[in-house]
Amino acid sequence: MKNKTILVTGAGGYIGSVLVPRLLEAGSNVIAVDRFFFGGQRLPAHPNLTRLRTDVRTLEPSVFEGLDAVVDLAALSNDPLGDAFTDETWEINHQSRARNARFAKSAGVPRYVIPSSCSIYGFFPPSQILDEDCTPNPLTVYAKANLAAEQDIRPLASSDFVVGVIRFATLFGVSPRMRFDLAINGMTETAWRTGKLALMRDGTQWRPMIHVRDAARAIEFMLDADADAINGRVFNAGSNELNVQIRALADRVAALVPRDVEIDWYGDPDTRSYRVAFDRIAALGYTTTVSIEEGVKEIVAALEAKTLTRSLDTLTLDWYRALEEWRSRIEQVVIEGRIIKRVGVLPCAALF
Ligand SMILES: NC(=O)c1ccc[n+]([C@@H]2O[C@H](COP(=O)([O-])OP(=O)(O)OC[C@H]3O[C@@H](n4cnc5c(N)ncnc54)[C@H](O)[C@@H]3O)[C@@H](O)[C@H]2O)c1
Repeated sequence: MKNKTILVTGAGGYIGSVLVPRLLEAGSNVIAVDRFFFGGQRLPAHPNLTRLRTDVRTLEPSVFEGLDAVVDLAALSNDPLGDAFTDETWEINHQSRARNARFAKSAGVPRYVIPSSCSIYGFFPPSQILDEDCTPNPLTVYAKANLAAEQDIRPLASSDFVVGVIRFATLFGVSPRMRFDLAINGMTETAWRTGKLALMRDGTQWRPMIHVRDAARAIEFMLDADADAINGRVFNAGSNELNVQIRALADRVAALVPRDVEIDWYGDPDTRSYRVAFDRIAALGYTTTVSIEEGVKEIVAALEAKTLTRSLDTLTLDWYRALEEWRSRIEQVVIEGRIIKRVGVLPCAALF
């Protein structure tokens, strides 16, 4: 990756804020495209980092000129967001990615990595282990938009435009833009803070997991992989050993939290359950490195050290809802760009 110029959308997000410092460390120049809904401070100051605060839905084709690769992470990033912001999930997660992939191809960018999700498998009986060739069964808007993006972008693959599709397992672990709305992270934090662990019924549902650093490594792997081995192909990213049932996962998390923990059941039985095979990416030489136990211990240590706290912006849906709510409140009180305080310096005449 040394001296390559890589455009990363969603660079200030949970995965992006782990990936970008790693790419910079490897000697890449990074163009970080993001609206920075969670703050620009998630990324380090670095001479080889350019920030572009803009919306991925309105990127100009010229942004893609002269790049070596695009990693298109920007998205409304879970099922509840897809339900709350349905049109926007289709616009950002599907249409905008497909459009930006076409711009990238036209601009001569040699490689494009699209992060999709194992949630496109939706529901399958546990006897079936799902590989990339099975017919997906997406149940949510979020999952359907991911699959639609894959389906539009894969056919763009050609000898001069290498497309790598990564279907990530559910992520966990500490990131500069922390998310406590992800299963392991949320379980760990609530168990640590309250002694209760909220579990969606009935706990038998299967999910694959991957640590956020391993997710960043999977993206780096795709950026570097032999073109013929990955072009136009889908890769589940995770590990066969990290397929877990939610109840058993809760017990593993509870055992690592330094207090007694009770299970609090909620909701109707979860309709999403999938066990996933990760042999295809393993055959190319990629393996995960961080266990669930290591990830949980790291979160507990950060909570104990108070370097990590649950705040509104660690709960993705709550944060976007709050931003929309504040916007409408602010619009009601602003006059000439001002609430109480002056913004910038007004000429004296304007003050009296
Ligand atoms: N976290 C997971 O468990 C997981 C699992 C599978 C796939 N993924 C995929 O990985 C990608 C990144 O996920 P994440 O966990 O880092 O999410 P995130 O919500 O932390 O980050 C998304 C980033 O995109 C930015 N963004 C959103 N809409 C934008 C817009 N219109 N214009 C510009 N920027 C915009 C946000 O500001 C944010 O920084 C997503 O595509 C997600 O679907 C994540």
